[in-house]
Amino acid sequence: MIVCVCHRVSDHTIAHAARSGAEFDDIQLELGVATQCGKCEDCARALWSECRPSHKLAHLSQTLQMPGSQSVTWMATA
Ligand code: FES
Repeated sequence: MIVCVCHRVSDHTIAHAARSGAEFDDIQLELGVATQCGKCEDCARALWSECRPSHKLAHLSQTLQMPGSQSVTWMATA
């Protein structure tokens, strides 16, 4: 699922970056997430936070619901 429409960044790309240890600022700089209209920021931050290696629940399946779109479920692994 595309999380950032402005820059066509998917949930998979954000999750992969988060699992690789990227800070949210790094994701913004490298991918442009939440740097244009900003509507994706809450969703992108939630996804990044859930997929960070240090997140206590990173091994659990998560479901994310964006207003006006389909929900997405992903398996975050640390
Ligand atoms: S949807 Fe991400 S900056 Fe607009």
